[in-house]
Amino acid sequence: MEFDVKDINLAKEGKNKIEWAAIEMPVLSNIRVEFSKKKPLKGLVLGACLHVTSETANLMITLKEGGANVALCASNPLSTQDDVAASLVKDYEISVFAIKGEDNETYYRHINSVLDTRPQITMDDGADLISTIHSRRKELLENIYGGTEETTTGVIRLKSMERNGVLFYPVIAVNDARTKHFFDNRYGTGQSTIDGILRATNILLAGKKFVVAGYGWCGKGVAARAKGMGASVIILEVDPLKALEAKMDGFDVMNSIEAAKTGDIFLSVTGNKNVIGKDIIKNCKDNVILANSGHFDVEIDLNYLKSNCKSKRKVRPFVEEYLMEDGRKIYVLAEGRLVNLSAAEGHPASVMDMSFANQALSAKYIFTSNKKLSRKVYPVPEEIDKKIAELKLKSMGIKIDRLTQEQEEYLNSWEIGT
Ligand code: ADE
Repeated sequence: MEFDVKDINLAKEGKNKIEWAAIEMPVLSNIRVEFSKKKPLKGLVLGACLHVTSETANLMITLKEGGANVALCASNPLSTQDDVAASLVKDYEISVFAIKGEDNETYYRHINSVLDTRPQITMDDGADLISTIHSRRKELLENIYGGTEETTTGVIRLKSMERNGVLFYPVIAVNDARTKHFFDNRYGTGQSTIDGILRATNILLAGKKFVVAGYGWCGKGVAARAKGMGASVIILEVDPLKALEAKMDGFDVMNSIEAAKTGDIFLSVTGNKNVIGKDIIKNCKDNVILANSGHFDVEIDLNYLKSNCKSKRKVRPFVEEYLMEDGRKIYVLAEGRLVNLSAAEGHPASVMDMSFANQALSAKYIFTSNKKLSRKVYPVPEEIDKKIAELKLKSMGIKIDRLTQEQEEYLNSWEIGT
């Protein structure tokens, strides 16, 4: 079995972490038991490019129990938990190619190591496997049944590939399942982003002006949690409807130049580039903190910062100080990479439970239904989304009501009026 991890001797600690996460992942455990009995993925070669965390480890173990041959690499150079990677190799005999802090060349070497296994299904978080296959490893296309995509940024890219006629296999947009983005993007990003900022800086949020760029599901989650810890939250939005929604949810809404004059912490969660750009960097106060929780490290204009600073130094793990020409100091967290996965451990297991249940069941769906699928981006089938919600409620000991026959008939009728 091939692998490339930091230190295989870290496995013991990693195994403890994997088992700890499993406690909060009852839906995935349920699927694991079913997979273990029925082996629905028997003979499948699956390549995954995901954040290598204890939660991802539980997904990999589930897929393997289902009969798949799995290889895993990182979907971000800074998010790998090296002890978890070691344990997956040593204790679970799963090929892992991932080292926290790997450089760009190693990152792509690891992606190619996974692709060398000739996967029949790809599982992405940010579409790096799919884009590498479609650009530099086209010979693999004929072997592939389909893929899954975990995150908003990846789904946006895949939809663009589909529109341009350059997507060559079906992909399920796991991100768009309701049991994914309502929970993972909102409660997961909400909590883990605050966790990352606090672990990196140990600042007090109460009393601070916390600027959130982007009021999608992730932005909503972060704004709610920052408010809950006593910060005054300011939202930056380019979409008038979302801006209005933020205002009516009780937040201040303004443009970047206005926010720059007053903000203490700036966080970008938009999926777009240079959002914390020149307008903010030129006009912001001394000692501000800049962070990103979007998938790629493009949301803070690091080039502008680098070319307009006198010097740069590391002041704490995951905190770099830029001394600007005019004497202001600006602090950037985690080199502008995902702060929640770089400086903390990503979303808690309880939300990844539903996200990864979607991944596992979508992989099974592609394996068993690939003849029906064409070169498109598909939603997670409604039955899967609903089954996951039901299993999660059951695991929480929550019973809900059902419609009576009379109510069903009423909803389906059109003759019954006043
Ligand atoms: N994305 C966000 N949080 C994550 C986690 N804990 N594991 C894997 N992917 C994630």
